[in-house]
Amino acid sequence: MLKKIKQKIVEVNVDLKIDERSGEIYAVAALFETPDSIFHAAEKVGKSKYSKYDIHTPYPIHGMDDAMRLKPTKLGFVTFIFGLLGVIIALLMIGYMSGIDYRNIIGGKPFFALPPSMPVAFELTVLFAALLTIIFTLFVFNKLPKIFHPLMDTEYMKRVSTDRYGIVIEAEDKNFDKDKVTEFLKSLGSSEISLIYKFTKDEDKIKTPIFDLKFIGLLAGVAVITAIGTYIILNKVIYTTPFDWMTDQFRVNAQTQSKFFEDGFGMRLPVEGTVSKGSSQYKFKGMPDSLVKNLSNPLPVTKEVFARGKQKYETFCSSCHGYYGKGDSRLKGQYPNPPTLHSEKIKNFKDGNIYHIIVNGQNVMPSYSKQISPDDRWAIVHYIRALLRSQNALDNDFPPGNERPGEENKNK
Ligand code: HEC
Repeated sequence: MLKKIKQKIVEVNVDLKIDERSGEIYAVAALFETPDSIFHAAEKVGKSKYSKYDIHTPYPIHGMDDAMRLKPTKLGFVTFIFGLLGVIIALLMIGYMSGIDYRNIIGGKPFFALPPSMPVAFELTVLFAALLTIIFTLFVFNKLPKIFHPLMDTEYMKRVSTDRYGIVIEAEDKNFDKDKVTEFLKSLGSSEISLIYKFTKDEDKIKTPIFDLKFIGLLAGVAVITAIGTYIILNKVIYTTPFDWMTDQFRVNAQTQSKFFEDGFGMRLPVEGTVSKGSSQYKFKGMPDSLVKNLSNPLPVTKEVFARGKQKYETFCSSCHGYYGKGDSRLKGQYPNPPTLHSEKIKNFKDGNIYHIIVNGQNVMPSYSKQISPDDRWAIVHYIRALLRSQNALDNDFPPGNERPGEENKNK
């Protein structure tokens, strides 16, 4: 016997206040008693002329996909496209950021290159593939924001989610004929057959509660509460005892004020007159340079001393004076430009004069006596001498046999 159920709807959503289902027929639904019977029925429906059908069971049944002749899911392809989108966006993003918008010289490496972009590209690939697949599934396959389905609230659905197995053949199928389908399902051994109707004639026009003011308000409320909670935890709670043990220590941060000292500076200079271990006090500190002419460089002229001087010069002096002492440093324009060291003045300087300037500074150039040890200062002096010499090479500086091609060594 055909049992025709026109179901009552238990509040599917607020705007849908229909007591009877007034829509057209959605499907014929058949219940089966055992997993075996549904399996064989599925096989037969799979072989039949009907293609718009579905099987519902309370738990997964092995081999059902094959019995139903389901085609492989298209989800993999969708995910692949999203992943591809992720790579492309990542590469465009990095290309724009480090290649065009914010070019940084890092050890002379190219601004944009593939190998360092790989981690970011990988991350975005995974992110895009995962998130967009979920969103796509919800909105395209599951048809959000539509949140109801004709099978909802039917006796059929209640049974197949507890103790029965079911097949529905949808009216959308081009071979659908209510009576023929019913006969067919009965011949497969169904214990109970029902007709399922749509809620209304025009389901697409039903407003869904997703855009309901209460629902949106709830979402906004959750967002605000989460934000406030996060703010309080990250900015207040972790700075209260006992969570502040690590941050709240008795120390002064670099470059900060301190009320402890009279002058208000947190960073302190060594006590006046301090001589560090292994160094000696410079007795001409603050005195005119005419007195230092006779100081002589105690260091030998060796490769090691030059290497040391070069390293210290490039660390402490090149930022203003430039790598070759020409006053064309990378700070050019941001600090008063120093004069070139290749001047007559410096050429006539004794070693002691240069040493004196490193210790005392000169006008806007600060003293470097605290940063550079006496030996290193003398090494720098040697190196500056070498710099001066290198920029003023004479023809007979070339060892015999190494003259520039086509030129006689004039000074020979
Ligand atoms: C913060 C930038 C800066 C740094 C770093 C710096 N200098 Fe200077 N230096 C200057 C400026 C500016 C002058 C010119 C000062 C003046 O107006 O008399 C100068 C002048 C000099 C002079 C005298 C030049 C002249 O013709 O009067 C010598 C020599 C010198 N510096 C050596 C050094 C050495 C050696 C170092 C490294 C230990 C060094 N400077 C580090 C900025 C700097």
